[in-house]
Amino acid sequence: MRNPQLNRHGELTHLITTEGLSRNILTHILDTAETFVPLADRDVKKVPLLRGKSVFNLFFENSTRTRTTFEIAAKRLSADVFNLNINVSSAAKGESLLDTIANLSAMQADLFVVRHEASGAPYLIAQHVAPHVHVVNAGDGRHAHPTQALLDMYTIRHFKKDFSNLTVAVVGDILHSRVARSNIHALTTLGVAEVRAIGPLTLLPSGLEQMGVRVFTDMNEGLKDVDVIIMLRLQNERMRGALLPSSHEYFKHYGLTEEKLALAKSDCIVMHPGPMNRGVEIASSVADGKQSVILNQVTFGIAVRMAVMSIVAGASA
Ligand code: CP
Repeated sequence: MRNPQLNRHGELTHLITTEGLSRNILTHILDTAETFVPLADRDVKKVPLLRGKSVFNLFFENSTRTRTTFEIAAKRLSADVFNLNINVSSAAKGESLLDTIANLSAMQADLFVVRHEASGAPYLIAQHVAPHVHVVNAGDGRHAHPTQALLDMYTIRHFKKDFSNLTVAVVGDILHSRVARSNIHALTTLGVAEVRAIGPLTLLPSGLEQMGVRVFTDMNEGLKDVDVIIMLRLQNERMRGALLPSSHEYFKHYGLTEEKLALAKSDCIVMHPGPMNRGVEIASSVADGKQSVILNQVTFGIAVRMAVMSIVAGASA
């Protein structure tokens, strides 16, 4: 069966998930992003690739980084950008998601950037839009956050050059994390030597080993000699019932402190998709320390989102 993100010519026409995307496609996105990074140092930070196109940002869930960097990216591509304020939109009066999309499509939308608490919402939209309209998933439920994974891959490649010799640890609430899922698919496709998942049993989903991941419940063991650490937030908003004794206890066992970071390689980089909960999953001294590349991730997010939007918008209808 054809990947629903690809058109009949095999071009990426929507970005819904990193699962099933080839190494060639992932690398093409990272290479394209690389060409956009130097734009940030120019007086005029714009290219005309999406001139005349209308990009609609639809964030049904809160966001700081993703929403803002998508907006900056679309503007740098010279698109007209519309941010629908969901709280004052007719969605609050009961209008269905697909009716909202149909109405915005009637306003000649070319590209929808969608964040939604329901897993599968961007895919549903992609199935209903016209062939010339593109959908980019900005995070859906627990399912996927593909542009976060791509900017994470970009950051790793920038600092480590080559994926093939790396050991990457993903730490924390993996069960509820769309970022973890998207990162694991991207890391394995890009040929990382070893992907580790570290967390308490209650926050580790089943099936990780089948995805090619080594699982650890002891953080001191799991961090030994790793090149990259990706810390995750406890996603309390997606937890049903108490899965942890307390955040204090969690920090003691799974919080990234300077002592725990010392178990990794001396040039290990520390990443976090944000938002961070300091003192819960990461100590401030590590978040702000010299091995942290957390703010670099945010900056690279602009170029990566420019790459994704320009590539999908360039796919034939
Ligand atoms: N990483 C991330 O998705 O952050 P926001 O929720 O602020 O967009």
